[in-house]
Amino acid sequence: MNKLIAPSILSSDFMNIESEIRMLEKAGADWVHCDIMDGHFVPNLTFGPPIIKKIRKITDLPLDVHLMITNPDETIDWYIDAGADWLSFHIEAAKNPETLLKHIRKRKVKAGLVIKPKTDVSEIKEFLPLCDYVLIMSVEPGFGGQSYISSADDKAIQLVKLKKDLKLPYLIQIDGGINLENIKRIAKLGVEVFVAGSAVFGSEEPIETIKKMKKLIL
Ligand code: DX5
Ligand code: ZN
Repeated sequence: MNKLIAPSILSSDFMNIESEIRMLEKAGADWVHCDIMDGHFVPNLTFGPPIIKKIRKITDLPLDVHLMITNPDETIDWYIDAGADWLSFHIEAAKNPETLLKHIRKRKVKAGLVIKPKTDVSEIKEFLPLCDYVLIMSVEPGFGGQSYISSADDKAIQLVKLKKDLKLPYLIQIDGGINLENIKRIAKLGVEVFVAGSAVFGSEEPIETIKKMKKLIL
């Protein structure tokens, strides 16, 4: 399959979000990654469903919503109603991951599970048949601009093997510390969707950076 770039608007200019989205469209970004932080599950706070709804209105790019919140079980419909196309939540936060994944899919949204750097792949194994994608956090969730944690490599390798052994179709996504220097190597491990925040929006030429990233993962 084609590998995908999902720039994270966490590092974008929120005062000019529409022009940032137009830039992503022009660059050929595949998804828009929206980081939802609640100040509880992670120390940082970002934005919620009303902003997703606004972004939904101005673009046809798929919205990939990454929930870093304490109570996904109670609030999942807010994000579906706001227009998420892909919706992931942390296994560490969910009370009932199975019900949640089934519910997201029933509402015709792609469902994903996320694991933090200290969470083992074995903790999500039983839920993999219910996942459209799996997100490996390669930094501690909460902030952009951190360095890639190399133990994420091993998780990617494990998830590639499980996908093959169990004959499952889930996509493998990685998030945190992805840049022009490491993206090619990580793509070779079998990761398919790359989130990049500061490497894109902190770049002098974000459009060129996205285009270069797309070439590097071909
Ligand atoms: C961190 C977020 C990431 C973040 C990545 O909690 O989930 O999506 O924006 O930022 P970079 O690419 O700067 O590591
Ligand atoms: Zn994210």
